[in-house]
Amino acid sequence: MGLPEATRFEVNGRACVVQAEADTPLLYVLRNDLGLKGAKFGCGLGQCGACTVLMDGHAINACDTPLWSVAGRKITTVEGLAEGDRLSVLQQAFIDEQAVQCGYCISGMLMAASALLATNPQPSLEQIKVAMDRNLCRCGTQARILRAVQRASRVLGERSAA
Ligand code: FES
Repeated sequence: MGLPEATRFEVNGRACVVQAEADTPLLYVLRNDLGLKGAKFGCGLGQCGACTVLMDGHAINACDTPLWSVAGRKITTVEGLAEGDRLSVLQQAFIDEQAVQCGYCISGMLMAASALLATNPQPSLEQIKVAMDRNLCRCGTQARILRAVQRASRVLGERSAA
């Protein structure tokens, strides 16, 4: 048996070539092959959102996304959210609202929220709840997480009005 075929895609703006079995979950590739530990393994079944990353701007569960399906795509992980040396507005809002308890779910929360704000910068509370519905927090900081997304939305709105 030869080596598995190489899969080429982009992660956080950088071209990547990964040699792994085509059905390897993207989450394993990110964490084990590329050293990006931000996306977390929670359920491995597409049910908790801890592994959420963006594929071409859409939130996906990296645990049930096979490597073959990301060929030629643009993947963004939480490591790619900051704006240079500065945290993104969303990351800062999570800190300002003290939205983290254990933190395990937070990178997935940030990615789901960032996908939402990219397409709907001024979401209603209901729209935020719907967009974050597949991201679970077991510590119970959901209310703070929702407030953080609202805060980020406000700051982004003020920035674009200035
Ligand atoms: Fe991927 Fe739970 S680890 S959804």
